[in-house]
Amino acid sequence: MYNSKIIGLGYFVPDNVVTNDDLSKLMDTNDEWIQERTGIKERRHVIKGEDTTSTMGVKAAKIAIERAGIDKDEIDFIVFATLSPDYYFPGPGVQVQRDLDIKTVGAIDIRNQCSGFVYGISLADQYIKSGMYKNVLVIGSELHSGGLDMTTRGRGVSVIFGDGAGAVVLTREEDNSKGILSTHLHSEGAHAEELSLIAPGMGKRWVLDILKDNDPNDVSYFPYMNGQFVFKNAVVRFSEVIMEGLKTNNLEVTDIDMLIPHQANLRISQFIQSKFRLRDDQIYNNIMKYGNTTAASIPIALTEAWEQGKIKEGDLVVLAAFGSGFTWGSAIIRW
Ligand code: UT7
Repeated sequence: MYNSKIIGLGYFVPDNVVTNDDLSKLMDTNDEWIQERTGIKERRHVIKGEDTTSTMGVKAAKIAIERAGIDKDEIDFIVFATLSPDYYFPGPGVQVQRDLDIKTVGAIDIRNQCSGFVYGISLADQYIKSGMYKNVLVIGSELHSGGLDMTTRGRGVSVIFGDGAGAVVLTREEDNSKGILSTHLHSEGAHAEELSLIAPGMGKRWVLDILKDNDPNDVSYFPYMNGQFVFKNAVVRFSEVIMEGLKTNNLEVTDIDMLIPHQANLRISQFIQSKFRLRDDQIYNNIMKYGNTTAASIPIALTEAWEQGKIKEGDLVVLAAFGSGFTWGSAIIRW
């Protein structure tokens, strides 16, 4: 069996910066509340018509492929993680295949929200391990701003999320002590509705219902989050899945060189940092600048940390995510 390793990373965020003060002009919120509860100072929002989830993913992917030093036609498979696809169907994986003008390789879309990128990495890793594919492109991209309730009614959710994309290229590694050492995936569907967007869907809110009701107060097509419940589960599951990954590889918390947690809330990252007694240089956070970009948050943060020289060859890098589903996961990487 082979291992897989990341050989190219890239990210793209829209130029349009939306500060907490900007949001306070749209809804009853304020900079102090947002920073105190989440750590977020600003986020990026796409200007409508300039970008979509797939085009941001393509921009991030181009950088990742160039840095990988391979030709686009050497990509054997595309994995795209998002909760905010351009279309209900088809998913954006095929749009990436088209827009990058890659030969007719397979493309799959992952619907695992905040942990979508970790699930994507895990999937790519299995394909590479088995020898089925050599080079796999994994993208996480989100355009939240077009689907948030930007009124006081939606403030508990809409101040948190931002737009952006990140991508990595994984390739075959023959040395089993390097690259992705293991991935760990979990879900708990008992809490499916605690962080969800119900409509349009073929469960509770059919498209036909929405059209028939034509109700301006229908919030079922905005995201819903039971914030405190999600927070409480997140801190437990983040810790568990990081420890599970370390234990599988006979590693200790002190072996971590860089932890890249999904950027859900700075308070969650700080809780984990203090629980694991990590120094500031052992964890990377950028939620202050970009908000929570769901499936894009880990690849954006990973790319930034790498660009800043905070990840070096031989480092133990841990990725961990928790979110809607609930789903959560980790990846243990020897860089
Ligand atoms: O990435 C996916 C995973 N997501 C997460 O991990 C998010 C986890 N949850 C959280 O990060 C936090 O629960 C939030 C940041 C979402 C909310 O913080 P909280 O401390 O749990 O606040 P809350 O929802 O309990 O609301 C407290 C108060 C409420 O007012 P009352 O009822 O006490 O009068 C809210 O109406 O804050 C109010 N509030 C706001 N006030 C100003 C809610 N949102 C806002 C806002 N600005 N944006």
